Amino acid sequence: MNTSIAIIGTGIAGISAAHSLQAAGHAVQLFDKSRGSGGRMASKRSDAGALDLGAQYFTARDRSFVDVVQQWKARGWVERWMPKLYHASHGQLSFSPDEQVRWVGTPRMSSISRAMLAGMPVQFSCRITEVFRGEQHWSLLDAEGNTHGPFSQVIVATPAPQASTLLAAAPKLAGAAASVVMEPTWAIALGFTNPLQTEVEGCFVQDSPLDWLARNRSKPGRDTQLDTWVLHASSQWSKQHIDLSKEAVIEQLHGAFAELIGCAVPAPAFSLAHRWLYARPATAHQWGALADTDLGLYACGDWCLSGRVEGAWLSGQEAARRLMERL
Ligand code: FAD
Ligand code: NAI
Repeated sequence: MNTSIAIIGTGIAGISAAHSLQAAGHAVQLFDKSRGSGGRMASKRSDAGALDLGAQYFTARDRSFVDVVQQWKARGWVERWMPKLYHASHGQLSFSPDEQVRWVGTPRMSSISRAMLAGMPVQFSCRITEVFRGEQHWSLLDAEGNTHGPFSQVIVATPAPQASTLLAAAPKLAGAAASVVMEPTWAIALGFTNPLQTEVEGCFVQDSPLDWLARNRSKPGRDTQLDTWVLHASSQWSKQHIDLSKEAVIEQLHGAFAELIGCAVPAPAFSLAHRWLYARPATAHQWGALADTDLGLYACGDWCLSGRVEGAWLSGQEAARRLMERL
């Protein structure tokens, strides 16, 4: 029987694995519980245009990822983002320029996953609840009770807490995934009718409920009427306020923003909040990817390396490499 490889998760790790496998001539089938691709690199459509509420930008340090990003650039999927960068500590705002090359998807972060998935078989709005093995092949069960398969191998490319249940057939892998603590992040967007009177376009924040600020219009290709900002709360604040209502989160983070930005901040014409429950692994790992090569079950994601876009990409590459090594 000619069976394909199932990949659960269309974040950058799952897409990376899919891309590698497909390039080597293997058939893949992807699944995602969301309506669209990208996971934590997705962009949310809103009345203030598309907003990157998760990953804000990414850096490329590994040689192989640097080359991949150059290809993305050549295809028009990414551009360099060169914000006027600041740093805020103990309420003191200071200009903090550097030489780091930072990339964003254009015209939105999700452009990368969307372009990379073109032509690949993907089933969206499909939450996989169980991965089980018959005599020779794998099958997947979804939340609606439908069974998908048979598949020769399965790659689980979800955040660790969601991966651990899907990896139950390989207890060692499930245990490793279960040991990873992932921390939450509250993200909000505020849109102002009149541009704020500040030079700040990006800011790393310490000693505040906030951790990061970005001015949407400073990113290439973003075209909105409003002066829209994306603000991230720190992990600590997000944990402490995990069950706060969206309205209260917006109010509190708006207050913290007004305190540190150093100019008048009126009531926003637009606001939204999003809670990322599994935003980042509490610690980095050196696993690359998890594999039970005898069973044909693999796991990848940012939590197997660094909790960054680059780490997720490299982890997907490693899962695909280990899978193909066994064929
Ligand atoms: P994800 O993107 O989480 O993808 C997993 C996918 O699996 C999702 O699409 C999800 O819907 C799907 N899924 C989960 N469970 C199931 C299931 N049961 N069935 C089917 N599908 C399922 N990184 C940077 O490099 N720079 C940054 O500036 C940056 N900022 C960030 C800010 C925030 C607020 C957050 C949340 C993350 C940020 N990151 C940043 C981290 C970066 O976004 C992640 O490291 C990377 O996107 C993770 O990719 P992934 O493929 O491993 O996982
Ligand atoms: P990077 O090299 O730009 O930043 C790494 C860290 O260095 C920053 O967090 C910041 O503390 C510091 N830094 C960098 N440039 C600075 C400057 N000009 N002034 C002051 N401090 C500076 O990017 P890298 O290594 O790719 O990291 C990705 C970013 O993604 C990090 O900022 C990280 O915090 C963020 N992230 C956020 C998550 C969330 O849930 N909020 C999840 C995962 C990553």
